[in-house]
Amino acid sequence: MNKYLTENKSIVLTGDRITGPLHLGHYIGSLQQRVEFQKKATQYILMADMQGLTDNGSTPEKVSKFLFDVVADYLAVGIDPKLSTLCLQSALPALSELTMLYLNIVTVSRLERNPTVKHEILQKNLSRSLPAGFLTYPVSQAADITAFSADIVPAGEDQLPMIEQTNEIVTKINSLIGQPVLTSCKVVVGQVGRLPGTDGSGKMSKSLGNTINLSSTADEIKKAVYSMYTDPQHIDVASPGHIEGNVVFTYLDAFCQDKAMVTAMKAHYQRGGLGDMKCKAMLNDILQELLQPIREKRAQLINDKAYLLQVIKEGSDKAKEVTQQKLDEVKRGLGLLIL
Ligand code: TRP
Repeated sequence: MNKYLTENKSIVLTGDRITGPLHLGHYIGSLQQRVEFQKKATQYILMADMQGLTDNGSTPEKVSKFLFDVVADYLAVGIDPKLSTLCLQSALPALSELTMLYLNIVTVSRLERNPTVKHEILQKNLSRSLPAGFLTYPVSQAADITAFSADIVPAGEDQLPMIEQTNEIVTKINSLIGQPVLTSCKVVVGQVGRLPGTDGSGKMSKSLGNTINLSSTADEIKKAVYSMYTDPQHIDVASPGHIEGNVVFTYLDAFCQDKAMVTAMKAHYQRGGLGDMKCKAMLNDILQELLQPIREKRAQLINDKAYLLQVIKEGSDKAKEVTQQKLDEVKRGLGLLIL
């Protein structure tokens, strides 16, 4: 990771849609990296409530009720508000204004080609009821990234198309202005690009009910692990099992520090003689150990709303200045009047 930070002045932006408490997919895909990045880079973490509304327009409470959960999750995993700026998307009007400006140079057909959005439209079965805001959220994300002049975006693999689209906008705006006002960026994918849900069906996602949250209780974790998708053909311990698509092994790869042991377990499983229950018991131990301190810290934080609010407010005030400055530069470059 450090190879991205050699110049010592990288600006990192990450964000999360506020649509539920954060889960292991967020942790392994991005949160863990953020804890490292904050020590070496200027890091902004955006609580993307506006983006959360793009597919919750008629149920805004599904977004607002989770804000404090997400801040508590951040702090509980070790994100330090003294080292990272935590800010709220809806409190930063420059982001919406940049979005409006960028929308004019992005075609509808380009938006429809974005593979992540395409997939989400199908998955959520939106078809004719697709909200305009949802189709255009990659442009709002480009506004987020460029407003902070971020050059690094730590994220999951599903965010690659967003970065590609962001960089197209950067090139176009810079060429319109004739100066490199916007900074291009690259994604840094976490050690596991995409963590499957516990059912093995796809990405871990609250709407699919296949998550293990950072706030899950010990019982919930155990239940989720013991009902994990493995190899449906592996019906008795003695016979050989498959590890491809076997969620327990994907999670062991992601969360077990002892890589040599995982390799040995995989070989044993494939040979036959290693039962699913043993593998699950081991994974359960690892996840319990990882999540217990996070859960305890989080439980304390969630009771201190005044502190959480202060973190959001201070970070957002700082971010407001930074993003407004970038908006002014873009407006000036495009010949708009700054009053
Ligand atoms: N799309 C991201 C998610 O689904 C959230 C997000 C919004 C984001 N703005 C961003 C991520 C800017 C990185 C950079 O969680």
